[in-house]
Amino acid sequence: MLAGHLGDSGLADQREGWRRIVIEKPYGTDLNSARDLTRALHDVFSEEQIYRMDHYLGKETAQNILFFRFANTIFEPIWNRNYVANVQISSLETLDIGRRGPYYDQTGILRDMFQNHLLQLLTLVAMEPPASFDATAIRNEKAKVLSAIQPVALSETVRGQYRGYRDAKGVASDSQTATYAALALRIANWRWQGVPFFLRSGKALGCPSSEIVVEFQRPPHMIFNGHETAPNMISLCIQPDEGIHLRFEVKTPDQAQQMRAVDMEFHYRTYFGENGLPEAYERLLLDVMLGDQSLFPREDQIEITWRLIDPIIEGWATPQAPPLEIYERGSWGPDGAEKLLASLRAHWRLGCSCMKEQ
Ligand code: BG6
Repeated sequence: MLAGHLGDSGLADQREGWRRIVIEKPYGTDLNSARDLTRALHDVFSEEQIYRMDHYLGKETAQNILFFRFANTIFEPIWNRNYVANVQISSLETLDIGRRGPYYDQTGILRDMFQNHLLQLLTLVAMEPPASFDATAIRNEKAKVLSAIQPVALSETVRGQYRGYRDAKGVASDSQTATYAALALRIANWRWQGVPFFLRSGKALGCPSSEIVVEFQRPPHMIFNGHETAPNMISLCIQPDEGIHLRFEVKTPDQAQQMRAVDMEFHYRTYFGENGLPEAYERLLLDVMLGDQSLFPREDQIEITWRLIDPIIEGWATPQAPPLEIYERGSWGPDGAEKLLASLRAHWRLGCSCMKEQ
């Protein structure tokens, strides 16, 4: 294996200066292969020398989640089960699998997007405040919240495949690989007990958006007769229109009790210019050189995330699997995703660039 050869050639030896290894995803294809990889790496490198890359963590908007939560006082007091109704993490892509058929057909959306990017975003919204901004403190909190996620019930999973996927080069003509998935997760701890976390991601959809919506509970008592309000929402817009939106109700002028939802919006481009956001990889590679592991998943996080995802992938190969729903290109994905949320009295929400379309 490559790491072994690096060791044999003395390239892991730090006596004459630091030596670090960067591993790009996929980090294994399941728990066992991820463990094998870690073992092989640890034969040669110490954990401090290993940088497992998840490029979502290098995105400015993902990094900003911790600043938004912990550099302000007004959001954190309501960031819990007393005020939050649900949290939704979406990564919707308009692109299809392109020329990656052979890779993708073996991988599918859960390995490609959930085990890594979406669960890492979840750690940022759901973790407890670390004692400091130090890599170990941050990584400990992330591992803690990941380990509080409960095993996912197959009945709370949805899988879809876009029409035409099987015609792509390198894809089996009867492929059952999912190009879309939606999951409902539960985090069993004091902060999040009873608050569902909905995750979804898919290819060949109608509008591109990676975002996290925190949906708040409705007012406990409505004094404005007969008017349904929209829930308050904070949308953390990861891409493409990077920013943060806060949605709340206002009175419609010149109407007695009419109201509507409006958005207060922060856009990175307004404050930092069109070119104000560095590429995720620029930041991550710089951190590798600086020796800062904060933005790199540790071995325990990788194991916990595979432990969550493996049973779903295995379950999807059994008769208990939800049906593989074929969805149209350019749509919002399989109907099952909406039905899943409806069964939990929720509704998918988008508050960033695609919100007007859904
Ligand atoms: C990669 C996946 O890790 O992330 C791709 O392998 C996916 O399938 C990509 O398209 C999404 O990254 P981004 O930065 O374009 O959202």
